[in-house]
Amino acid sequence: MINGLSSFCATFLLLLSASLASRAQGPAAGREHLLLDAGWRFAYGHPSDPKQDFTNGTSYFSYLAKTGNGDGAAAVKFDDRAWRQLDLPHDWAVEQGFSEQASFSHGFKTVGRAFPNTSVGWYRKSFAVPASDLGRRISLDFDGVYRNSIVWVNGHYLGTQASGYNGFQYDISDYLHYDGKPNVIAVRVDATMEEGWFYEGAGIYRHTWLTKTAPLHVAPHGTFVTTKLDGSAATLTAKTTIKNSALTPQTFDVVQDVVDAAGQIVATTQVRQLHLGAAREQEFTCTIPVANARLWSIETPYLYKLVTRVQQAGAAVDQYETRFGVRTIRFDANEGFFLNGQHVKIKGTNNHQEHAGVGTAIPDALQDWRIRQLKSFGSNAYRCSHNPPTPELLDACDRLGMLVIDENRLMGITEPLLNELKTLMVRDRNHPSIISWSIGNEEWAIESNVLGARIAATMQAYAKTIDSTRAITAGISGGWGQGTSTTIDVMGYNYIAQGSTDAQHAKFPQQPGWGTEEGSTFATRGVYVTDMAKHYIAAYDKKPRPSFYSIEEGWRHYADRPYLAGLFIWTGFDYRGEATPFRWPSVTSYFGMLDLCGFPKDDYYYLKSWWTTQPTLHLLPHWNWAGKEGQPIDVWAYSNCDEVELFLNNKSLGKKAMTKNSHLEWQVPYASGTLAAVGYRNGKKIATDQVQTTGPAAAIALAASSATVQANGEDVSVVTVRIEAKNQRLMPTADSEVTFSLRGPGKIIGVGNGDPTSLEPDQFLPTVRALPIENVKEKGFGGPVSGAETGAAFDDSGWGSAAARQYDAATELVPTAQAYVNRGSFELPADLSAAQITFFYQPIGQQQSIYINGHALAQNLTGEQASAQGYQLDKSWLKPGRNSLAVVSVPFVKKQIWDVFNIDPGTVQVITPAAAWRRKAFNGLAQVLVQGTRTPGDITLTATAPGLKASVLKIKSVAATPRPAL
Ligand code: GAL
Repeated sequence: MINGLSSFCATFLLLLSASLASRAQGPAAGREHLLLDAGWRFAYGHPSDPKQDFTNGTSYFSYLAKTGNGDGAAAVKFDDRAWRQLDLPHDWAVEQGFSEQASFSHGFKTVGRAFPNTSVGWYRKSFAVPASDLGRRISLDFDGVYRNSIVWVNGHYLGTQASGYNGFQYDISDYLHYDGKPNVIAVRVDATMEEGWFYEGAGIYRHTWLTKTAPLHVAPHGTFVTTKLDGSAATLTAKTTIKNSALTPQTFDVVQDVVDAAGQIVATTQVRQLHLGAAREQEFTCTIPVANARLWSIETPYLYKLVTRVQQAGAAVDQYETRFGVRTIRFDANEGFFLNGQHVKIKGTNNHQEHAGVGTAIPDALQDWRIRQLKSFGSNAYRCSHNPPTPELLDACDRLGMLVIDENRLMGITEPLLNELKTLMVRDRNHPSIISWSIGNEEWAIESNVLGARIAATMQAYAKTIDSTRAITAGISGGWGQGTSTTIDVMGYNYIAQGSTDAQHAKFPQQPGWGTEEGSTFATRGVYVTDMAKHYIAAYDKKPRPSFYSIEEGWRHYADRPYLAGLFIWTGFDYRGEATPFRWPSVTSYFGMLDLCGFPKDDYYYLKSWWTTQPTLHLLPHWNWAGKEGQPIDVWAYSNCDEVELFLNNKSLGKKAMTKNSHLEWQVPYASGTLAAVGYRNGKKIATDQVQTTGPAAAIALAASSATVQANGEDVSVVTVRIEAKNQRLMPTADSEVTFSLRGPGKIIGVGNGDPTSLEPDQFLPTVRALPIENVKEKGFGGPVSGAETGAAFDDSGWGSAAARQYDAATELVPTAQAYVNRGSFELPADLSAAQITFFYQPIGQQQSIYINGHALAQNLTGEQASAQGYQLDKSWLKPGRNSLAVVSVPFVKKQIWDVFNIDPGTVQVITPAAAWRRKAFNGLAQVLVQGTRTPGDITLTATAPGLKASVLKIKSVAATPRPAL
């Protein structure tokens, strides 16, 4: 609960010395924020079959009946040793193959209703906390799980989170063991349902954290810093919510330092003698003047930190950092958008949250790379369509200078739905990059009618109670002049084909507006002749449909109208799903200015010409048209030069004058050789470009986005694979299949090529199968067991089920048999040649001997002696298909009649090694994502293809301190 109290706040502006900056304290100040991404176990469960869902939810007293009753894979004692090991972030959808029966929206990856075996995923992780943590508050924080997650700790149900996009945290302090015993997290994720109509991934695809604080601490996302500017002097308002999780009232001081980008404290405040009752939280407000504040802008995204310390008896018990920027934003109904008082035309793109090779599990470094790609053609704004983004995307936008529309998922005014909006806003409101909250997108059932008007008004009023400093918008695709468009603060036009922005502006002259979506063209990178049968669309910027607009038409509309703040192109990057205008076997969209890998399509250069001031000249198409000699080829130039002259094999084809926000076209009879363009500004040659006819593909060239990676286990280098003809020219139609191998402290995490019709794997991973021992039967013996019962071929059809004895209370207080033989079987796959097969045994008696197909695996083991690492099985004992397991045991004895003992003898794990990483080039290009480990050294990536000169790339992994992690 936030009381909204303002407290007395003493402010001191300090003239500061570097020594003051060092007073910030480390974990000793009470707070640790530990990355919890490493070392998870994963296996597929099932949406409806309890057996395949590890019997979770089947207990007599369910986990909803009694706390601590997490059963099946949610139970502490569940044996997950045979499950696959992986690190987060993880998207299991991208690991799947494709099927025509799968969802168009999700790029035909085999997840969803029709694929129950790959639609529920279970994750488990164990961790220890030291005894010294007892008394601290410890929370488990998920940045985002797709979707419908249920979390247990030590078998205790913590909660269910339906959203696949909002972050959530659970206070787990009271559930933990502090005596060195492992604590077990279990997460069930159900990706059966789709939230969006675009690829959404599946699994724990964002970071996970363990946060430890003192009982008295800054609440999660508990600060809100806003700034007011008067000349170069800024006044900060810092609202800080302090939470007292202690069982007694507390008195404390709050000290807040404003720290600049160089680490110097530039202002400080103290609030003394605050009081909070037990289990209460309260918001305190301070104003802090900062003289000569440096502003956050697109060009110089300057960031400050507010360091909040909660102090008792002069010592900090908590320290919390809030990154923020000083900037002003303003929308004007006639003049558009202003940042720091300067007019900025919004040159934005819409984007979904995924990338080639890795799906939604985007490493932080790749977020940065993607934002840089967008900035490279002059884009200054990013719309998170149509969901809350990962926090690291916003961090990248803050750091790199990219304005953001942060978008809510589903519109609605019920408490759960408003809470989704609130969660997003409270988490994100300190990011200077965010200039607007979008409450929703194209809500067709309401946007044209009074429901839209009402719901938008209610959501907007609610949003302003959380943050009144940013404009509220929504993407609206119809009914302009009525419905949502009548109440929304900033009108979001989704496509000028839907109506007249001029009419809306005339009707609502006080309402600012922008194009939340515009210019959806279909284009395949590197393709210049449309082939509908092959699902390839020429990359000239043509109207996608008679009623729709090209990128150029769209931009001109917005560029010509000062009252429009700008636009967001649909889209920056291609994304999986929505392969409009095609269906199967196209699996990605055609809308991007960049393809799924981030390789520019030609539209990129149109925008670069008019969205940047860098001299730009780009010719299309390529110049490999053997067989078309003498036939006219459409040649286009994108440029911001005044004039462009075209030359074919050194012969001028004339100079043409460029119109602002336009492009130039020629028809050139094809002759092989060189087609060159020269661009002039004020009569001076300032840019050139050329396309040349090439011979066949001859070599592979690898180039890394960065020659080094930080050895922190997270950093990534984006490697471009180029197929070259002679003289290092890109061979523009090459489709060679390239095989990759990697040595050194790194790994390949994904491959792609931007071909919307490619059904090649994104990842090449070992297959890990965990095979249950099925049909376990048993028989009790009064004396020694003869031996025949352990044989492979023994007929146990007359024996009873092992489950019968498990719940038979009376008999096992005094065992009825001296020994039991349990027999079961497991089904091995057909090809065992490369497989590694391990048996993870779980004791089913006080003492036991284990037989596989009649071969003695272990003799007279106590439970403690059974190998925790499992038994590597000798393949000469095994065969494809059914194999037998027999266990001869001295039975457990029940102490209490309600004791239930284990009757599951374990799991057989079959690991089949991964095939070599490979990918076809698409129109000469492919991409490999290389991630470093935590070990410094040389990473060597080798690329080979039949008939081509191989390429070897070295990436240096340099020593780096990994983030604090568990
Ligand atoms: C819009 C929608 C986008 C995307 C696009 C494809 O109507 O808002 O999410 O679906 O159409 O054309």
